[in-house]
Amino acid sequence: MIKFTWYGHATLSLEVDGIRILVDPYLDANPVTTVTSDSVNPDVILVSHGHGDHIGETIAIAKRTGALVISNHEIITWLRQQGLEKLHSQHIGGGYHHGFGYLKLTPAWHGSSLPDGSYGGTPCGFYLKTKDDKKIYLAQDTGLFSDMSLIGEGGLDLAVVPIGDNFTMGPDDALTAVRLLKPDWVVPIHYNTFELIRQDPYLWSSRVESSTSSKVKVLTCGESFFF
Ligand code: NI
Ligand code: MN
Repeated sequence: MIKFTWYGHATLSLEVDGIRILVDPYLDANPVTTVTSDSVNPDVILVSHGHGDHIGETIAIAKRTGALVISNHEIITWLRQQGLEKLHSQHIGGGYHHGFGYLKLTPAWHGSSLPDGSYGGTPCGFYLKTKDDKKIYLAQDTGLFSDMSLIGEGGLDLAVVPIGDNFTMGPDDALTAVRLLKPDWVVPIHYNTFELIRQDPYLWSSRVESSTSSKVKVLTCGESFFF
């Protein structure tokens, strides 16, 4: 059983075998969550790309908790320069057997400059296969790409896709993404944080459920679900 929690925007957590994994920890400046960076206690932090609404408070949380941070090589190099030590770099297409399962970085069509303008390498999504064979895909920030069908090939228990439009896939492309990924469950993210990415997740949910065999879980900020 995996506990999945959404904190609004692209910030989420997975609890796998008691290991708490926090993804893209944008909390203090996140207008839709009341959870603060000093109240979370992850064992692992995953960072998909360098934009402020994703790297968020990674440095402060990792310094306080000693959490292991996993990201691409360029972001990990930058985090080392900021004083972090417990780091693991991977890159697109590369997987590694961590304590919580096999984690692979997937491609993402997006940008990845860091808050100070440094080069953040290519952005990524995450594919996780847990020890009890749960398969999870976190698209994070990306446009639609047809290779999503390869990510879904081995079956997916959960896919997390952005639906906000403007910066990432919008509702139509996210629906196509679900068709390519064919997950059992899908959770929409990266919407309703700001006016620019306002969407109706319930309308999207009904479109997905009436035209695919995937089920949609629309979460409110801070809500969890188990799968
Ligand atoms: Ni971004
Ligand atoms: Mn973003």
